[in-house]
Amino acid sequence: MSTEHDLRRLIDELAEGRYGLTLVNQRQHALQSALLAERAGESPDFILAALLHDVGHMLHTLGESPAAEGIDDGHENIGAAWLANRFGPAVSEPVRLHVAAKRYLVATESDYAAKLSDDSVLSLKLQGGPMSEAEAAAFAALPHADAAIRLRRIDEAAKDPDGVTPDLSHYLALMPASV
Ligand SMILES: [Fe+2]
Ligand SMILES: [Fe+2]
Repeated sequence: MSTEHDLRRLIDELAEGRYGLTLVNQRQHALQSALLAERAGESPDFILAALLHDVGHMLHTLGESPAAEGIDDGHENIGAAWLANRFGPAVSEPVRLHVAAKRYLVATESDYAAKLSDDSVLSLKLQGGPMSEAEAAAFAALPHADAAIRLRRIDEAAKDPDGVTPDLSHYLALMPASV
């Protein structure tokens, strides 16, 4: 099966679920993330990363709200591994690091925690809470840390219950022809 076929199944069918989100379903969250990246003038790879940053939620079998049951689903690693088989690191690495970027931002920006939605606050605890100073320094030195931080800011903004976006086809057109 092609990557496009897989993504249509994951985003258009499975992403009806809320998967821990409170205000929007995963498809809306994915499309709003991609649109915010597009509006910010980001590259096609980054827009794909934004579209697919939570694909790991659709790939695991832990149910729709593992965080509510005290389980960290590790969706950033599940999603990044899946993406790394299909795209380059400019797509998979910001996805792998987007949870770490939240832990980084909470540790380094005094007002960031107050901006988090309820679902992000709940999952933050399970994901290890704010980074220590040493963890934050190590994170900031990673090659894709900046992209992960930009992605994480988009992630938090992409939960608008009234958001209007292009459909999935608009973003799948950004995929390299080779996948
Ligand atoms: Fe996520
Ligand atoms: Fe997200």
